[in-house]
Amino acid sequence: MKIGFGSDHGGYELKMKIMKALAKEDKYELFDFGSFEGEKADYPIYAKKTADAVVNGDVDLGLLYCGTGIGISIAANKVKGIRCAHVSDPYSSRMAKEHNNANMLALGGRVLGEELALEIVHAFLNAEFQGGRHQNRLDLITKMEEN
Ligand code: RB5
Repeated sequence: MKIGFGSDHGGYELKMKIMKALAKEDKYELFDFGSFEGEKADYPIYAKKTADAVVNGDVDLGLLYCGTGIGISIAANKVKGIRCAHVSDPYSSRMAKEHNNANMLALGGRVLGEELALEIVHAFLNAEFQGGRHQNRLDLITKMEEN
């Protein structure tokens, strides 16, 4: 599975910790779309770079990080085809995939500790979209994007 990562300075540290943890698991290809080195950065730029990679199929899923996870999720959801869920607990994270078929998650680097963030990420990566009635609802969202 190919996973894209994006952050601003507020999410940079958590992004790096999660990338390091997932790299050890040896089953993911990880791609960092910036920002780099923790420099001050505008989150919409990195939301877009990562979201574009998801929509283009360069990566399967995207994991975004800013201070709260809010700004970067709002920005990512402006990209057509993106369903980015801003979550702070493993249950919502699993549901984001099972019911909403989210293709991106947004986490708050100033909100979550590393262990909880990793649990949240695993809940997302290990879950499967359930389809059925949930697909009908996603189709309604897609229609909204087209109008
Ligand atoms: C940057 O200071 C901060 O506003 C940003 O990381 C994010 O939390 C915005 O939603």
